[in-house]
Amino acid sequence: MANVVVVGLLWGDEAKGKVVDFLAEDADYVVRYNGGNNAGHTVVVDDEVYKFHTVPVGVLHPNVTAVVADGVVLDPQVFTGELADLKNRGITADRIKISGNAHIILPYHRMLDGLEESSKGSGKIGTTGRGIGPCYADKMSRTGIRVCEFIDPERFRERLFSCIERKNALITKIYGGEPLNASAVYEEYSEYAKQIKPYVTDTAKLLFDASSQCANVVFEGAHASLLDIDHGTYPYVTSSHCVAGGACIGTGVGPTMIDRVIGVVKAYATRVGEGPFPTELNDEVGEAIRKSGNEYGTTTGRPRRCGWFDTVAIKYTAAVNGVSGVALTLLDVLDDMETVKLCTHYEIDGKKVRDFPTDVDVLARAVPVYEEMPGWKRDISEIKIFNDLPVEAKNYLARLAELIEAPICIVSVGKRRDQTIVLDREMLEM
Ligand code: IMP
Repeated sequence: MANVVVVGLLWGDEAKGKVVDFLAEDADYVVRYNGGNNAGHTVVVDDEVYKFHTVPVGVLHPNVTAVVADGVVLDPQVFTGELADLKNRGITADRIKISGNAHIILPYHRMLDGLEESSKGSGKIGTTGRGIGPCYADKMSRTGIRVCEFIDPERFRERLFSCIERKNALITKIYGGEPLNASAVYEEYSEYAKQIKPYVTDTAKLLFDASSQCANVVFEGAHASLLDIDHGTYPYVTSSHCVAGGACIGTGVGPTMIDRVIGVVKAYATRVGEGPFPTELNDEVGEAIRKSGNEYGTTTGRPRRCGWFDTVAIKYTAAVNGVSGVALTLLDVLDDMETVKLCTHYEIDGKKVRDFPTDVDVLARAVPVYEEMPGWKRDISEIKIFNDLPVEAKNYLARLAELIEAPICIVSVGKRRDQTIVLDREMLEM
């Protein structure tokens, strides 16, 4: 048995969905523990593309129970849409379980997300606009509505009307926006509540019992370490615990029950939204990476900012997550590069720095220093074993692993399940 956490090591979009899907083959449970529909996980099965925002990607495996745990914020409109889409595509949603402790995203959260962002002007975060920050803010100020209340019509009505009264005051008096009609919201959301109710259960007990019975559990982290509310590049972060420790906070599974942590990172770097990004390339090389990697947001369609692999940032996130091994994805995107670069350290105020600064004002002054290596100039997308990779690609991976001080256990060279090279099978064994 094994409890494995899969976590992104940079600013999201590392192809965690593919890695979770790969591990889910041998899993009994796949568990989402943080975030909401600001996440976008893409999985390709037999050339069919599935995009998930809240439903755990493990649902594609008939053997897997897919759990939406306590730490998630759930938008009922989006979630019921995802359920309908799955059913239309012949995938059974019966094995989905939702925690009664998860919080509900309501229309005022989305409105306030937009209004708060506009009011910040050039200081905006660049959020996905999905109401994530305002929903987590309500959770922390103990005024949020949880799934257990949402599915009880009387409690939901009472809580919703009182929340909307207070939010309308904020929307109209502070932001000059249009007030919400509580009755209309109640009517619409009661329908979603009826659809969601059958899936609700005590997921913490479910997972505790599962672990005691030696089940295999994959914890599917959303977003990524540098978007973590505590350990990321605050304030340019999301509002949840994205690091591996979030798997415990967001599910009720204790730290001693986690066996391994797989950190996922691309062979280059990307970021969406605002905030410092030392290795960003605002030139034709960045554009070439964006084109070759199809670097446009799954959730918002925004072009992603692209740059070289940053070993300073990844050494930090590998440590913060206590990674057992690294899954390196999208290596094939660099196939056409004459040379590839690794950022080995920063120069900040004239000093050489190898420790990642999480103070964004300091990070904004970081000048990346690179090591340049020859590219492999070959299509590697159908290579199945590590030894068949071109020597230049192997050298790149070896140097990268040395600099981040963590072993590589998977190399992904394409979107399909079979475009996955396993270096350390033992680490992946469930
Ligand atoms: P929010 O999560 O919508 O509040 O957005 C906060 C920041 O996190 C913004 O810069 C978003 O672009 C970023 N973000 C949130 N979720 C993801 C993700 O899954 N991938 C990449 N960036 C994300």
